[in-house]
Amino acid sequence: MKVNGKRVVSRLEEIYQCGRKEDGTFTRMAFSAEDVKGRKLFASWAEALGMTCRVDEAGNLIARMKGQDEKLPAILMGSHLDTVPDGGKYDGVLGCVGGLEICETFKEEGYIPRHPIEVIVFTDEEGFRFGKGLTGSSAICGHDPGVSDAEADIYGEERGKVMESYGITSADMLKAAKDPSSVHCFIELHVEQGARLYKTDTSVGVVSSIAGVNRYDVMVTGEANHAGSTAMADRRDALVAAAGFINKIPEITAEYGNEFTVATVGTIKVTPHSVNVIPGTCTFSLEIRDQDEKIMSLIEEKLRGLLEEICKKYGVTHTFVPTSFHEPAPMSEWVKENVEKAVKELGIDYCTIPSGAFHDSLIMTSVFPTGMIFVPSEKGISHSRYEYTKDEDIENGCNVLLQTVLNVDR
Ligand code: GLV
Ligand code: MN
Ligand code: MN
Repeated sequence: MKVNGKRVVSRLEEIYQCGRKEDGTFTRMAFSAEDVKGRKLFASWAEALGMTCRVDEAGNLIARMKGQDEKLPAILMGSHLDTVPDGGKYDGVLGCVGGLEICETFKEEGYIPRHPIEVIVFTDEEGFRFGKGLTGSSAICGHDPGVSDAEADIYGEERGKVMESYGITSADMLKAAKDPSSVHCFIELHVEQGARLYKTDTSVGVVSSIAGVNRYDVMVTGEANHAGSTAMADRRDALVAAAGFINKIPEITAEYGNEFTVATVGTIKVTPHSVNVIPGTCTFSLEIRDQDEKIMSLIEEKLRGLLEEICKKYGVTHTFVPTSFHEPAPMSEWVKENVEKAVKELGIDYCTIPSGAFHDSLIMTSVFPTGMIFVPSEKGISHSRYEYTKDEDIENGCNVLLQTVLNVDR
């Protein structure tokens, strides 16, 4: 039994087109009209297969195919359809479209799995809109996604209002929690988003674990003053201090981290934000990721110390507030073994690799037996319009997913 690779590739393109914006970018921000359009298209494909579709209290779109024994726990597949701004064609979408392709292949082959199958399109995985992702997967796992209808997104829109497009409210989200005994396992197919497979010319990655992610909001406070009449020696420039700190982050990760340690400042804002005023405050996000929780703590400690020192030097003050914490997440040994068995059965070259990006699997693994399959990202590029994965790699990845489902179904 093999998947139809061409169908998968053409569906990736169709979902991509749902994100077309007037400014020429392709973006399916969670809860947006483009995202809703993509989900509707996805549901139409699932329904055409005779699958039942429902949207749970957290907005997760769940397409279900009956198994021979409906009392058996379900095999879950899936990922997300929401993207980052001007994102690519594959991130998340491959796991959803790939999961559906397994169901379509079963239907065409007249194969009825023993276990029921569910393909899940998770709600707001990327999280750039409200600054926190993994919303739908958290709720399914029974973890509080930490959202409220009153909170505003980066454009100032209220969550309660924007979530009307899904017909959900924050207060009900935890009702989406799945009983662990109703789930056999969760398998997520995804593009690597890094360059390990690409650089080693390897077709498939069997994921060992997902890096932990700690996030912080940092605010440096100096003094807003006239940019023309304030001598350099008299300034307390919040941005100059922040820049001094940000510039040293690579040195800290190199000295105290390992090959997987990364730290990033991804957003920055100054006030009053005027060409002729010295920045009085500089607020920025900071993120630390690693496969080892102890290293993450060490990097945090060193960065806090560095910020303290730099702020003292420039005569400014600061706050350093943790906003979210996810510890590194190893994948289930049992699912991993089944993925590995599948790749070997198919005779596809593979390696075992950790994930630097996070995925819904990061959360799912805390409650359900979870595994991930990676396919190469050309040149390691992702979260970009230049994200690209070769058709043959997509087909290979889907066939590994298919074979893994067959293995765990037996
Ligand atoms: C999600 O893709 C992330 O790793 O930030
Ligand atoms: Mn993703
Ligand atoms: Mn992503």
